[in-house]
Amino acid sequence: MNIQHPKLVKLLQLAYSAEKAAAFAYIGHAGSVREAGEKSAIRQIELDEWQHRETVLSIMKLYDIRPLKYFEVKYHIIGRIIGASCYVIGWFMPYYFAGRLESGNVCEYFIMRRYFNEIGISDHDEVLYEMGMKEKEHEVYFQKALETNRLLPLFEKIFGWGNKGSSNDVDLENRVSVEESKRYCRNRRSASEKGHE
Ligand SMILES: [Fe+2]
Ligand SMILES: [Fe+2]
Repeated sequence: MNIQHPKLVKLLQLAYSAEKAAAFAYIGHAGSVREAGEKSAIRQIELDEWQHRETVLSIMKLYDIRPLKYFEVKYHIIGRIIGASCYVIGWFMPYYFAGRLESGNVCEYFIMRRYFNEIGISDHDEVLYEMGMKEKEHEVYFQKALETNRLLPLFEKIFGWGNKGSSNDVDLENRVSVEESKRYCRNRRSASEKGHE
């Protein structure tokens, strides 16, 4: 079955490739931190991203959607560059920008679910909800690690993410049901809509 929803098709292809970039970045990130607890937490996040990529692909296959070569190459390079940069930019920045990026990723899966619902498909509601919530867990992990860091207030002021600011309205502590989570990210636009090419 083919789906007639160009924004959804593009968002799936984008998510598939961006998950690879994230996983690559976390390989570098885990390699660059010294503390064992941090290393294993980041390694787990990397595994989550590979899992997401698998899951996105399995959904794409149902609708005969192929990965986009251009995204695959582009995000391969981006992931490797970010991963390598973790070794030279210190401890704070990889933590900060990972958290900020995760914050933006959370809504992608809730929007993807909304797009599917728009064309009458609700089979993926649960799995998309789980992936969105997992991205939120990632965001919160980085947020907690930075909470008391003296650089955070400055970065929060400049880049808009930190203890108070977040790019999504998902609340991990008060988890709502899959059904209720429809209200998440209502006013957000997806990366595929914002013209990430
Ligand atoms: Fe992910
Ligand atoms: Fe993530």
